[in-house]
Amino acid sequence: MIDLIKKLTEAYGPSGRESEVHKIILEELSDHIDGYKFDAVGNLLVWKYGSSGKKILFDAHSDEIGLVVTNITEKGFLRVESVGGVLPHSFVGHRVRFPNAVGVVYVEGESEEERKKNWTNLSLDSMFVDIGAKSYEEAKNKVPIGSFGVYDSYFYQMGEYLVSKAMDDRIGCAVIVEVLKRLKSCPNTIIGSFSVQEEVGLVGASVAAYTLVPDVCIAVDVTDSADYPKAFKRHAMALNKGPAIKIKDRASISNRQVVEKLVELAEASGIPYQMEVLAFGGTNAAALQRTRAGIAAATVSVPTRYVHTPSETVSVSDVENTVQLLIEYATKGV
Ligand code: CO
Ligand code: ZN
Repeated sequence: MIDLIKKLTEAYGPSGRESEVHKIILEELSDHIDGYKFDAVGNLLVWKYGSSGKKILFDAHSDEIGLVVTNITEKGFLRVESVGGVLPHSFVGHRVRFPNAVGVVYVEGESEEERKKNWTNLSLDSMFVDIGAKSYEEAKNKVPIGSFGVYDSYFYQMGEYLVSKAMDDRIGCAVIVEVLKRLKSCPNTIIGSFSVQEEVGLVGASVAAYTLVPDVCIAVDVTDSADYPKAFKRHAMALNKGPAIKIKDRASISNRQVVEKLVELAEASGIPYQMEVLAFGGTNAAALQRTRAGIAAATVSVPTRYVHTPSETVSVSDVENTVQLLIEYATKGV
């Protein structure tokens, strides 16, 4: 599974450009599903039939945050705008990867003072990207306006932790792929939704559950692991304590029966878990629960340090226990 996590997190897939991620997922799942389709907004939906007549949808978003080129200077430097909730500081001095080039992100300033000021009150307005081009023409040919870039970051195993860009939410994708692979037979029909454009407003998830009409939807996403120095002290989530069963975040309250069932199943099978109340953020569950006449929805999160940076960090044991919990839910949840 570690190889799959490496492949998925290193893949290029900013919002609206998720096809490389979908391709990897389909290759992995080809022998493990009964069918798949892409809907009109580009969500990849896969399924595995059961005989109970009940359907459970597991969703993970396949996109990641990034930058998009808005303008090119005469000398061939790029100006950019954010795609999703980008922290500008985590780009400065780092590299950004476009389909045809890699660029270095830096901040302007004619004097040391001005540069310091721009760095402190950082906005994308004072940043630029250097792709090594010497002219407008050269830059435009490689990285035209409208090109999307992602962190140029590689996967790294740091002891019992895994570090990469885009753990948000390729870790969710990897978990769902693994669940579908390991489920040999299941009474319930299991749908995997690898939805698009979560980072720009839950776009894919707004329609992902519409066609296949599941009985329950579970979003699998990352959550803030507040166990590093001076982290957000109102959060209890930590690495190595198991999957986080979400009670609420800013965008949704998890369906109470689904939460209780998840807790019951974790207790019964000895899977470590933690309860999550997130004081900010939101997941696709917010969109999934509003589908059609309403669908019972909840979120199961993989605790993650440094979300939205090039080094999002998760724990191997949390990932494995998330897979276990979802397998339990898939077979006994409804
Ligand atoms: Co995110
Ligand atoms: Zn996410």
